[in-house]
Amino acid sequence: MELVGFPHLVLLALACSGAISPAMSAGGSWELLQDSVGVSAMHMQLLHNDRVILFDRTNFGASNLTFPPGHPCRNNTRDQALPGGDCTAHSVEYDVASNTFRALSIFTDTWCSSGYVAPDGTLVQTGGWGDGIRKVRLMPACSGSADVASSDWSEKPTDPDVLAAGRWYATNQKLPDGGAIIHVPVPVRPPQPDGNLFVFSNNRAVLFDYKTGAVVRAFPTLGDGAPRNNPNAGSSVLLPLKPNATEGAEVLVCGGAPASSNDAVAKGRGFPPALTTCGRIKITGDDPNPSWVVEEMPSPRVMGDMVLLPNGEVLIVNGATDGVAGWDSANTFNPTPVIYRPDLPVGTNRFEELRPAVGSTTPRQRTYHASAVLLRDGRVLVGGSNPHEFYVFGEGVKFPTELSLEAFSPYYLDASNDERRPSIVDPSPSSPVSVGYGGQLALLFRVPVRDAVVSVTMVAPSFTTHSFAQNQRLLFLEVQVSKPQKLPVVGGGAVLPADDAYAASVTMPGSKVLAPPGYYMVFVVNGRIPSKGIWVHRQ
Ligand SMILES: *[C@@H]1O[C@H](CO)[C@@H](O)[C@H](O)[C@H]1NC(C)=O
Ligand SMILES: *[C@@H]1O[C@H](CO)[C@@H](O)[C@H](O)[C@H]1NC(C)=O
Ligand SMILES: *[C@@H]1O[C@H](CO)[C@@H](O)[C@H](O)[C@H]1NC(C)=O
Repeated sequence: MELVGFPHLVLLALACSGAISPAMSAGGSWELLQDSVGVSAMHMQLLHNDRVILFDRTNFGASNLTFPPGHPCRNNTRDQALPGGDCTAHSVEYDVASNTFRALSIFTDTWCSSGYVAPDGTLVQTGGWGDGIRKVRLMPACSGSADVASSDWSEKPTDPDVLAAGRWYATNQKLPDGGAIIHVPVPVRPPQPDGNLFVFSNNRAVLFDYKTGAVVRAFPTLGDGAPRNNPNAGSSVLLPLKPNATEGAEVLVCGGAPASSNDAVAKGRGFPPALTTCGRIKITGDDPNPSWVVEEMPSPRVMGDMVLLPNGEVLIVNGATDGVAGWDSANTFNPTPVIYRPDLPVGTNRFEELRPAVGSTTPRQRTYHASAVLLRDGRVLVGGSNPHEFYVFGEGVKFPTELSLEAFSPYYLDASNDERRPSIVDPSPSSPVSVGYGGQLALLFRVPVRDAVVSVTMVAPSFTTHSFAQNQRLLFLEVQVSKPQKLPVVGGGAVLPADDAYAASVTMPGSKVLAPPGYYMVFVVNGRIPSKGIWVHRQ
């Protein structure tokens, strides 16, 4: 694989979603999956075996997950905290289907690092801190019970430094050739349909031609210029891309903190409110002078996570209503998930606060070093939060280190939407389907009550850390839905499928710029209600 390093760039990206009729919106629900997996989920990546690789860092000492008997201890004489040996894990593989986890081994420090998934489905993780700042580590997506029980990070004590420069707080953006560009510092970004990189930092953005190193276009300052990068950590997404990408890709940047907040917190002058604003801008298309449209969120948020949902909406979750990112630098958790509907007309309120029903558990307080990723079943896995230099539990701290994992189920998973929930019956979700560029994907799905608009979306799972989902993107695909033909029956003959069965003929994007090679989740969306996804491999 090709890894290209570029210093001092940051970015973001996203696209916009299709027109869909409004849905009844209840409040979603929280579920505590694991009270403790022993490691705080600073970084998370879903792989196509429906397992989430999460990891923290190694430079703070023992985690709360001791290796099982027989598992070799970490013995890194350069370790800052435990140079004589560390028999605890700093990475975990979480199996979504069985709600179980197991310890994984990383050797050098992965603090505030970055990653992406290579076209073959291997997680490629880069950089970190201290002895890990120039490392590259690989974690395969294993299948088959023997592999699954023993697969682990490839990192060995003898591995050389391979990055040309140290990468701490970097972002990896997957490129059309399947390699990745590594940027420092963190931000928001995404490649776009025109093949340039959109790079956003604090309040300014450019289109960058990474092949020539030229800035192709500079965008105006976002809003009043308040900063959105760490520690004034906003979040961002490339809004869903439509089949005809020439309509223009759009980026949405939300939250952050006023420029003076970091100083105020550092000098003990309290915790100023976070920003309530988002900026949305067209980053491709014919407009020679695109400008930011500023929108107001229902509540202030810094250190939020923005997650593209299968139906093209954006979930904003986690974070604080005041302060900034850093050790004990925020004071009030924002407990309310918000949905943003990119397809609602300009001037309408595109935000909706979700109010989980009575009986749903209360979310754990997740501020600095939390993360959130979309799962194939439409839930959002939420974990991490540790605004302390070490693991701190118990009384006396406002936000104890969180070792738990929760699932947030957005409103579309409420039982009231069951009749309108599609299910893909063919291909089976048990193994990924391969489809070439521009190829056709035939889906058979069932849905009791069909909406006027049925869409098919494909979603790239993100590497999420520090309020940014690296490589997150969603495409609405061209689709034709019809009643299926008679189906052959074993032993001869044919039958008409059930009344609620439909055939979808889906055209996959023809461009590696739109959809770099690799694994995607594909969903059928009835109105706003998505099916569970299937994995599709593009190569
Ligand atoms: C983590 O380990 C520490 C030290 O053994 C212990 O005090 C604490 O209760 C553990 N916390 C959790 C959440 O398991
Ligand atoms: C770690 O490795 C060193 C030599 O590299 C060895 O002397 C030491 O005993 C090892 N420690 C543990 C806990 O395995
Ligand atoms: C995409 O948009 C362009 C420009 O509006 C148009 O010329 C083209 O026909 C469209 N293609 C499709 C497949 O709709």
